[in-house]
Parts: sequence; C-alpha cells; structure tokens
Amino acid sequence: MKEICFKDVLFACSQALDYVEYELLGATNHHSKSVAWMGMELGNALGMCDKDLIDLVACALLHDNALAEYIATELRGMGNPEMMDIGIHCKLGERNIEYLPMATNEDGAVLYHHENADCSGPFGRTAKETPLAAQIIHLADQLDVALDLGHWEEGKSEGIQKYLSMNRNRCFSGELMDLFWDTFTLSDLSNLEGGELEMRIESRLPRRTALYSHQQFRDMATLFARITDYKSASTFRSASTCRNSMGIAEKLEQMGHYYGYDAEGCMDLFMAVAFHDIGKLMVPNAVLEKPGRLTAGEYEIMKTHAEKSDGILSHIKGFETLRKWAFQHHEKLDGSGYFKGLSAGDLGFEERLVACVDIYQALAEPRPYKSGLTHAVAIKMMLKMVKKHQIDGGIVADLDRVMGSRVHLFTNSHAPG
Ligand SMILES: [Fe+2]
Ligand SMILES: [Fe+2]
Ligand SMILES: [Fe+2]
Repeated sequence: MKEICFKDVLFACSQALDYVEYELLGATNHHSKSVAWMGMELGNALGMCDKDLIDLVACALLHDNALAEYIATELRGMGNPEMMDIGIHCKLGERNIEYLPMATNEDGAVLYHHENADCSGPFGRTAKETPLAAQIIHLADQLDVALDLGHWEEGKSEGIQKYLSMNRNRCFSGELMDLFWDTFTLSDLSNLEGGELEMRIESRLPRRTALYSHQQFRDMATLFARITDYKSASTFRSASTCRNSMGIAEKLEQMGHYYGYDAEGCMDLFMAVAFHDIGKLMVPNAVLEKPGRLTAGEYEIMKTHAEKSDGILSHIKGFETLRKWAFQHHEKLDGSGYFKGLSAGDLGFEERLVACVDIYQALAEPRPYKSGLTHAVAIKMMLKMVKKHQIDGGIVADLDRVMGSRVHLFTNSHAPG
C-alpha cells in the first residue's frame, strides 16, 4: 500500500496531456484544467455530491487521454485530424479510465463527451440519453477549444455569447445552457490561468490522500505508460501496442525480484519506469517520430524529455524517490549523459539499474529503423559501454544472467546494500 493524493497524479499527467491536445488539435494552454474547473462549478451548481464531483473532475482532466493512442493507431498514414472518427478516441478513453481508482461506478463521462443535443454526435445520443457529466465535459471542452479562454482579448465576451447561443439545442441542451448562465458571469471566464485554476479546484475539492493497493498503482502506472508509449511512433509501428515503458517496467520488476526487493520495492521500480518517459508527451512528434537520424538541434529537443518527466513527477507528493530513479535514466557514470550530466558518485544503485534496463530494452526491441537485437548481441553492446565506464558492469552481468535465462531468481549476492 502506498499513500498519495490521486489529484496530484491527475494534475501532473493532465499537464502533459494538454500538450498532446495542443499539438494534435490546437487546444489551448491549460485546456484540461479549464474544462475541469468549469465542469466542477457546473456540477456544484447541480448539487452533485463530493464523490460525483471528484469523478467529474478526473474525467474532465483526462477527457482526451486516448488522443495520442487514437492518432497512433488509426490516423497515421491518413494524417488528417479533420477525418477523425471522434467516437474512437471516446471509446479508447473510456476503456483507459477504467484503470483508475474512481470514486463511483458511474460510467460514460468520457465515452459520450462529444455527443450533441441534436443527436449529431458520434453515438447519436439525445441529451436525455447522455450522462450529465459527459454533457458538462462536452460543453466546457468545446467552449474552451472554440474560444481559447486562457487568452482574454477584446471581443471575447461577445464571442462566447454568440458561440453558446448558436449552439443552444444543437450541441448543448437548453437546460445546460441555462445552468451555465446561472453559474458563470463573463468575467468569471476571463483570464483562466493554469495555477489559478488548480487552486480553484483544490479549494472546492480538498486534498485527499488515500492508500492505494499495489494493483491500483499498477493499473494507474499501466495507463500512463500506455499514454506515453502511444505518443511514440516507433512503439506502435513495432508492435501496435504499448511496449517500451511497459517492457522496461516488467523487466525491472523481474530484476527487483532477483535482487530480493520486497513487494513495495518492486512496485516502486515498476512505477518509476512506467512514468520515466512521460515527458515525451511534451516533445513534438516531428522530433519524436522522425524516421531518420536527428539533427543536433533535434537531439537537444529530444533530450528535454528527461527534464520534463522530472517536472511532471515533481507535482506528486510521495513520488520523490521513484521520481529520482526515473528522471536520471539517461545519466552515465562517466558524466556524458543527460539532463544533469551526473557521474558515478551521484548515481545510486536504482538509478544505474533503471538506466541499464532502459538501454537493454531499447536494444532488444524492434524499432522502425532496426530489428530487435538478440539477448547476446544486446549484452555485447552493453559490455562496450561498461568498458567506457558509462554503465554499471555488475548490473549488466546480472541482467545477462536474469534476462538470458529468463529464470526468476529471488536471491542474489549482488543485492544492493
Ligand atoms: Fe475529445
Ligand atoms: Fe479537449
Ligand atoms: Fe528516456
């Protein structure tokens, strides 16, 4: 069991998801927080109980969690977001939300977040057939995408009024429109800034830390690893499923057993790796997916993902240790790594272990420009890095033993002190 605040995880990850939505659809800065805040105020005005409000905020923050997955699996090749069958990301997003420890068993808030009151949405539902939470997210989402509420300028008030009256009973039900205008004034909607929005949500929904079981953590980590992996074209091209982060997480957990870590320790290793590349969500696809060699400038942009992962995870209280293991995964013992350029004296056992398993996975799995190496060739290449004093020789020897035999051993003389 581990104690964290679920909201911390949601806010941290929604920051990265906002970047994906901005990059793929041109949504605004702090988009998911704007949607969550408007949703929370509308839910509050409706007299929703705390549990329903918490779930509404969670679904609003993650309403487009499957956008990268959808683009990766369905749209590459066609490459035109205008041609989206938007129902697909709704279905994938709803399935993903089931991985999270929600407060209620209500469903449909993500699945139906694009339904229009006139039945012209992807599932042809009337407003009466659409869960209220989904209608609320739809309204807040569309309004923010259409009007960019994060940037206030002259004419914005008129724009909001015009947009909402044009879409009354088309996109949004008349009842919801009335509730909207009973709840917000135009000045409430001006200058929606990220930090301020987070504070407004925090003040209504106070921090609630909870003990989550290992299975709940595993599910949460699996969801965010999936989201990260789908942003990477090499992942879906190679296997059409999320491989990289999950592949490393499973191998690292296996190494944790070998070194005699207890269940808590193995879970921390699994979590560290599931989140280690989440900063890749904030690296432009043009760099992340470039099939050929990166230019020096592009490589610098790619390298920022480690620092971005660190920034995202720094918002989650209780993740301090595993965050350190995660964000140092590109550091090298000789100081030639990134993003801090740390060296042997700064790098503890777990940081070295994560780095080695990350390299092993990268060598062993197929990429668009190469097939996966055999275990023996991967270890041979890693031994060259050991000779250059870049990675830990003892860990590479253990990796050879465990991954080579695929035998789960539970004790080992090289266990960390
Ligand atoms: Fe959406
Ligand atoms: Fe959105
Ligand atoms: Fe990385």
